[in-house]
Amino acid sequence: MIAKAPTTDRLALVTGGTRGIGEAISIGLQEQGYRVLASYQRNQAVADEFSARTGIPVFKFDASDFDATEQSIRTIEADMGPVEVLVNNAGITRDGVLHKMTPQNWQDVIETNLSSCFYTCHAVIAGMRERRFGRIVNISSINGLEGQFGQTNYAAAKAGMCGFTKSLAKESARYGITVNSVAPGYVDTDMVRAIAPEVLQKIIDKIPVGRLAKPEDVARCVNFLVADDADFITGTTLSVNGGQYMS
Ligand code: CAA
Repeated sequence: MIAKAPTTDRLALVTGGTRGIGEAISIGLQEQGYRVLASYQRNQAVADEFSARTGIPVFKFDASDFDATEQSIRTIEADMGPVEVLVNNAGITRDGVLHKMTPQNWQDVIETNLSSCFYTCHAVIAGMRERRFGRIVNISSINGLEGQFGQTNYAAAKAGMCGFTKSLAKESARYGITVNSVAPGYVDTDMVRAIAPEVLQKIIDKIPVGRLAKPEDVARCVNFLVADDADFITGTTLSVNGGQYMS
């Protein structure tokens, strides 16, 4: 069966939605008929170019800051209506082996990748419960499932997202809200291109499909999970990794 497009022009908020995987998710949702708002934190020029090219409005806020997130989502909802679809995609890496990792690098990754999910969900969940509809998708990672050399911070955050997802799914199921994770493998984005070429080649060699993921491969999963008729799928983690890790 083909996933049903939204019956109304539901508003979808995609954090980190102006580039990389987030850009493909924003565009994918727009193509499905959602009204999309893409948040970004730093790269104004990229956000402006993205918005001009796609017609998708952008909103600057720091998802690793509880008060800024709460305030920004209040403003967004006052201007555009309730957020009915939330995609927690904002994420960073600060790779390094544990014995060289600074507390700052630990903290930054946990705050941006994991705490941000609490902050955004905290801001939208009461409204979703009242309206008895919501779709939340948290973008985790293969490395949260299998671990990765040099990524104790990132793997802890991404694994944490899966536990967060399951718990919030249990709390929200009776209210028409689904909460799921998508765990991409290595996707052809700036984040992955920053890995040293010889290290990256070794990783690609281990992907049975034989290539990096395209951002659109991840966007397709999000479209599936947020569809109106995907209402019996909750608390799951959908892997999209070319067979690199089969859990
Ligand atoms: N397994 C076992 N040993 C490894 C290893 C591995 N995967 N990688 C490196 N080592 C070994 C090295 O051979 C080396 O051993 P010797 O000292 O005996 O020579 C030792 O560990 C140190 O390795 P490095 O010189 O690479 O250490 P470094 O401090 O310079 O760099 C690192 C560490 C930055 C973590 C580097 O290894 C690296 O970039 N690794 C890739 C990390 C990675 O995959 N990040 C993913 C980013 S993309 C992403 O996160 C998106 C997503 O969701 C998938």
